[in-house]
Amino acid sequence: MDVVVEARNLVKEYNSHRVVKGINFSVCKGECFGFLGPNGAGKTTTMSMIICYTPITKGNVTVFGLDVGRYPKKVKQKIGVIPQETNLDPDLTVFENLMVYARYFNIPKKVARNRVKELLSFVQLSDKRDEVILRLSGGMKRRLLIARSLINDPELIILDEPTIGLDPQARHLIWQKLRQLKAHGTTMVLSTHYMEEAAQLCDRLAIMDQGQIIAEGSPNHLITEFVGTEVIEIRSDGQESNYILDSLKEHQFSFERAADTLFLYSREGGRLVQKIKEVKDERIIYRPATLEDVFLKLTGRELKE
Ligand SMILES: Nc1ncnc2c1ncn2[C@@H]1O[C@H](COP(=O)(O)OP(=O)(O)O)[C@@H](O)[C@H]1O
Ligand SMILES: [Mg+2]
Repeated sequence: MDVVVEARNLVKEYNSHRVVKGINFSVCKGECFGFLGPNGAGKTTTMSMIICYTPITKGNVTVFGLDVGRYPKKVKQKIGVIPQETNLDPDLTVFENLMVYARYFNIPKKVARNRVKELLSFVQLSDKRDEVILRLSGGMKRRLLIARSLINDPELIILDEPTIGLDPQARHLIWQKLRQLKAHGTTMVLSTHYMEEAAQLCDRLAIMDQGQIIAEGSPNHLITEFVGTEVIEIRSDGQESNYILDSLKEHQFSFERAADTLFLYSREGGRLVQKIKEVKDERIIYRPATLEDVFLKLTGRELKE
């Protein structure tokens, strides 16, 4: 398979503080590869090294076989970028923002005009063509950033938290657009801390924490590997949960205690629930395992600021 992005022993230090600690990953053509991790994990830093925005401390990244340290200009021509911060020009209209951006890529005006028209239609913003940025909703701005990232017809797009802060409708519309791009063969690298986003879009994920990749695989693979297929949540205090655990001795499961909840991870949840109900019959939640379980299990349940 064609490798589009490859990182080897990638390190980033800020004032000799290591925030990306020698990570390795590769992204294949047509794939959507996601970095999932809590705040401060190093996702944005990793992505900005791929797009030649942040200098690499050690190791290297190639994009379409080009070393980003040596050929930043060539790499930038080939990729589309959707940054975490909405950096549209607030004084310009929707149309003008895209036209200005097209100039960075030396796209002739006439070609750009047609391309902008197509892209605005793609992201459902044709009727906002002459609106100033200030008047757009959060979801519209994000869609405009997607349109802008596509101006140079890139085969690879890099998206840093593409739906952060959006309401569910706006988020689903963006997912739909990204799936459309993927169906056309666009390779994507995205970062997110929304589990559902990762599950909806990504073929493969790298879970990042404190500058390291701590797990990698398809969403389903990660769920079965680290959690199992089913989760039982029991609201319970310490003493009662000891009693419950004791009653399940003959079964295969792993467990975790967090504040007021006992989590049981198992492949035979149904049988466990039956057993638990013999000793406790209320406040039991029995559900399929999700990426969120994997994430919390691997990165911990305490708050990360
Ligand atoms: N320009 C910078 N100078 C110093 N430290 C930085 C800079 N940018 C990011 N960091 C630090 O690097 C770590 C990783 O940040 P970041 O890549 O933004 O994480 P994420 O995107 O996963 O939330 C954080 O501890 C952050 O404070
Ligand atoms: Mg970030």
